[in-house]
Amino acid sequence: MIKLPLLGLAMGLVSHVALAAPSAPPLEDKAAFIDHLIGQMSVEEKIGQLRLISISPEMPREKIREEIAAGRIGGTFNSRTAPENRPMQDAALRSRLKIPMFFAYDTLHGERTIFPISLGLAATWDMDAIAKVGRTSAIEASADALDMTFAPMVDIARDPRWGRTSEGFGEDTYLTSKIGQTLVRALQGKSPAEPDSIMAIVKHFALYGAVEGGRDYNTVDMSLPKMYNDYLPPYRASLDAGAGGVMVALNSINGVPATADTWLMNDLLRKQWGFKGVTISDHGAIQELIRHGVARDGREAAKLAIKAGIDMSMNDTLYGQELPGLLKSGEVTQAELDQAVREVLGAKYDMGLFKDPYVRIGKPDTDLKDYYGEDRLHREAARDVARRSLVLLENRDQTLPLKKAGTIALVGPLADAPIDMMGSWAADGRPEHSVTVREGLRRATEGKAKLVYARGSNISGDKAIVDYLNFLNFAAPEIVDDPRPAAVLIDEAVKAARQSDVVVAVVGESRGMSHESSSRTTLEIPAVQRELIKALKATGKPLVLVLMNGRPLSIAWEREQADAILETWFSGTEGGNAIADVLFGDYNPSGKLAITFPRSVGQIPMYYNHLSIGRPYTPGKPGNYTSQYFEEPNGPLYPFGYGLSYSQFELSDLALSKTALKRGDTLQAEVTVKNTGTFDGETVVQLYVQDVSASMSRPVKELKHFQKVLLKAGEARTLTFAISEDDLKFYNGQLQHVAEPGQFNVQVGLDSQAVQQQSFELL
Ligand code: NOJ
Repeated sequence: MIKLPLLGLAMGLVSHVALAAPSAPPLEDKAAFIDHLIGQMSVEEKIGQLRLISISPEMPREKIREEIAAGRIGGTFNSRTAPENRPMQDAALRSRLKIPMFFAYDTLHGERTIFPISLGLAATWDMDAIAKVGRTSAIEASADALDMTFAPMVDIARDPRWGRTSEGFGEDTYLTSKIGQTLVRALQGKSPAEPDSIMAIVKHFALYGAVEGGRDYNTVDMSLPKMYNDYLPPYRASLDAGAGGVMVALNSINGVPATADTWLMNDLLRKQWGFKGVTISDHGAIQELIRHGVARDGREAAKLAIKAGIDMSMNDTLYGQELPGLLKSGEVTQAELDQAVREVLGAKYDMGLFKDPYVRIGKPDTDLKDYYGEDRLHREAARDVARRSLVLLENRDQTLPLKKAGTIALVGPLADAPIDMMGSWAADGRPEHSVTVREGLRRATEGKAKLVYARGSNISGDKAIVDYLNFLNFAAPEIVDDPRPAAVLIDEAVKAARQSDVVVAVVGESRGMSHESSSRTTLEIPAVQRELIKALKATGKPLVLVLMNGRPLSIAWEREQADAILETWFSGTEGGNAIADVLFGDYNPSGKLAITFPRSVGQIPMYYNHLSIGRPYTPGKPGNYTSQYFEEPNGPLYPFGYGLSYSQFELSDLALSKTALKRGDTLQAEVTVKNTGTFDGETVVQLYVQDVSASMSRPVKELKHFQKVLLKAGEARTLTFAISEDDLKFYNGQLQHVAEPGQFNVQVGLDSQAVQQQSFELL
C-alpha cells in the first residue's frame, strides 16, 4: 500500500483555477494540453497516475475512492458497469486536478456475449467474423463503462503445453498479425475516443508464448533472427493498426526480464518502431524483478522498471513507495517520471476522457436495469462466429452430418458444461447464458429425434488435478464431480449408447486446463474420459467425438476409435447451437487449424514453418541418419491449416504469371478452386512461400496469403494472389529486412501439408 501525505483541499481549489486559467492550452492541442497539465502536477500526483489497481479486500471501494480523490490512482482493471465506476470517476473529479480515471478489463473474446476462445477465432480464418467479435466486444464493454481492454494477445505459441495457447491465435506469424490488426481496428473503431470504442492494449510484449518447456512464467531464450522474423511481427502489426498500448510480458528474454528490458521497450518499441502509446506492466511484475534476480530490493525494481520504460504498474505498490526517494536521490530523473506520466495521460486523452470523463459511464438515468440481462447479448453474432470456428478433423464414411431422426446418445463430462463453454478469460460472461452442447442438441432434435444423455465420466479421475483446477483463479469451484464410481458412470453411458443409433461424446479439457498457470506435461485427454471412449467404441455404434479444449491434443488413439471428430475449442455463449448446426449439417464446417496437432507431447515443438535442415526426414524413404523420432510416425497428426468440410474442394494446377520477378513488380499466382461435393461450403485456399537458398536457412514454407471462399455445390472460382518483394523479405543475420535474389517456391493448398508447387526467380 502506498503511503503518501494527504493533499489539502485548498490545493485542489488552487489547481482547479490554474487549469482553467486563460493560459491553459485548448483541449484540441494534445501535446500542449498534457504538458500544461504535467506542469501543474505534484510528484505525488504524477506517481498516482502510474498506478493501476484492482478492487480487492485490501482495497475496498470506499478506500479506493479516497485514494482517487487524493490523486493517487490512475485507473482500475477489474471494475465494470456504470454504477460501479461512476462513483470512482466522481472521486477523480473531486481530486485537485480533476484528472479522470480509466477503467480496464480483460475483454478477450467477448464481454457479455462470449465468442470462441482466441484459438477458435483463429480457426475461422475469417477477418469479417473476427472484426464482428472485436466490434461486439467493444460495444458491450463500453456499455459496461470500460475504456480499455488487455487484448489482443498475439503471443505466437508453438508449445501447446502452455495453457495460454488458448488465449492466442496459434503458431503462425502472418495469420496472427492479420488477426491482431483486425481486432485492434474493430475494438477501437473510428477512434478509441468514441463512446462505443475501447482502447486495445496488445500483449504480452514480448515472446511470452515461447516460455521454455511451455511452462508458464518460465524464461525465453531466442535468437534475434527468430525473434524478428517469427515472434515480433504480430505485436508490431497490432501497434501499426493503432493499438493504444502494450502490456509487458512476465517472462525474461535472453536473461533480461521484459519488465526491466530497456532494449525491448526503449530501443525496439519506441525508437525503432516509433511507438507513442502507453506501456503497462503485467500483474505484480515490477515486484517480481526481485525474484527474477535482477533487483536486490523494491527500490531497485522500481528504478529498473521505470528506466526501462514501464509507464504504468499493475497492482504493484513499488512505484508509489520508491519513486519519491529515487527522484530525491536523482537516480530517477524528473524527465523520466514525466515521460511515463505523459504516456498515461496521453492514453486517457486518446480514450476521450479529458473531453468527457463519463463518455462510457454515461448519466445515471442511462444506467441499465440489469447489466447481466439476456438483452445485453448478441447471440446471433456469437452463433455465426462459433460455427465458423469449428474444425472437422475426421469424418469416416460420412458419419456426419447426423440425421435428426432415431435415437442419439449424448455423453461426456463436457456435454452439459455451461462454464466450460465460455473458455478461459471469459470477461463478464455468465454460465447461465451458455447454450451447452446438450441444450443445443435438444433444441435441434426437438420433436424429430430422441436424445438420451448420460455424463459417462468426470473430467479427471485425479483428485489432485481437480483440486488444482478448482483452486485456480476462479471465484467458485468449477469442476463438480459426479460422486458415483467411474464404472457406474461408464455403464450408464454404455446403456445409453446401446439404445441409440449414434453416440456423440463430448470430451476433452475443462476450461481451467487451458488457462494461465495451467501448463501440462501431456496433451492427452484425461484417462477417465479415454476409458469412456473405449467402452463406447466397444458398443459398435457410430462414434462422434466432439472435442472441447484450448490447445492441440494428442489424439492419435482417439482418431482410431472415432468415426468422426469435431474440434470445437471452447466455443462460447452460443457454442451448443453452433455445434448442433454443424453436427446436423445446418452449417457446413469451414474451420482450419491455426496450430499443428502433434501426435504426442514428445514431438514438441512442432510447427509447420520450421527451418530447413541438412538431414530432413523424408516421408516414404525410411532410413536412419535423418531427423526423426523412431518410435512413432513422424510429422503432425493434423497439420496447420487443416480442416475438412462436408463438401470436397479441388484445386487446379497452380499458374504463376512469370518465372522471374523484378523488384517493385508483382507476380500473380492463379489457382481455380472447385466445390466438387454436394453441399455449398467454404474453404480456405492457402499460399505459402519458400526462400530456397538464402544467406541463412529459411523456413520450409511460410504462409503469405489466404482467401476464404464460399462456393455453391459444383461451383468453381479462380483466385489470384499477388506476390511482391515484400512477401519475400526476412530479417537476415544482421537484422536487415531484405529480400535476397534467387529461387522461391510458391505452394498452394487447402492445408499446409498437401500443397502443389511452382517456382520463380527474384532478380
Ligand atoms: C495477468 C495476465 O498475465 C494478463 O494477461 C492480464 O491482462 C492481467 N493479469 C490482468 O487481468
